[in-house]
Amino acid sequence: MKRDVIIACDFADRATTLNFLDKFTEEKPFVKIGMELFYAEGPEMVREIKARGHKIFLDLKLCDIPNTVKKAMAVLSKLDVDMVNLHAFGTIDMMKAALEGLTRPDGTRPLLIAVTQLTSTSQERMEHDQMIYKPLLEVVMHYAACAKEAGLDGVVCSPLEAQKVHEVCGNAFLTVTPGVRFAGGDVGDQVRVATPERAKEIGSDFIVMGRPITADADPVGAYRRAMKEFAE
Ligand code: C5P
Repeated sequence: MKRDVIIACDFADRATTLNFLDKFTEEKPFVKIGMELFYAEGPEMVREIKARGHKIFLDLKLCDIPNTVKKAMAVLSKLDVDMVNLHAFGTIDMMKAALEGLTRPDGTRPLLIAVTQLTSTSQERMEHDQMIYKPLLEVVMHYAACAKEAGLDGVVCSPLEAQKVHEVCGNAFLTVTPGVRFAGGDVGDQVRVATPERAKEIGSDFIVMGRPITADADPVGAYRRAMKEFAE
């Protein structure tokens, strides 16, 4: 799988999103559409961005009973997106059902990626709120192994965890890593960050970058810099 930069289009509406994408006249970046934009503008937004020639990671993080997730994934698969995700927490049975739902009649399907523990969850909250009394990294690696067992393609994780995931699940198992910042850039609310170059060294397959690109005065320049540092 070729390394790529995915731009997190964390915008509130269609107009802002298309205005942003219009700036890219020479390239068609891989984009991530999350809950905010999807819930505001619906599947039509996905079709419109797809029709413009972009690859799409639909970041809706499904988690429900296996039958419900299977049916929802079948709907998302028809949108012709390239990557979707779910919570590994939903069990191996749920992940297997998701794969079934996602697989189109011709055997093709979008990549299916699992969220392990959200990066916003601390060791303390995991123990108190979820009653899981193991080291967080061990829990993340266990969820990654469950995702692999279910037949998924990879996990969302911190770039700093990518190497360990590959050790546990193999190099072909994809790591999709947010929390990426340019050297000297504003970290914002992200805690465990790496530069695109460092993420490449550690072995990330895809980096997800939002604000370092979307909030830059020159988003196309920032995207090109990320591609140069990470994907070349
Ligand atoms: O603006 P920034 O580069 O921090 O955006 C990162 C994107 O990745 C956001 O859309 C955020 O919701 C998402 N994400 C994350 N950490 C995770 C999973 C998703 O930052 N563990």
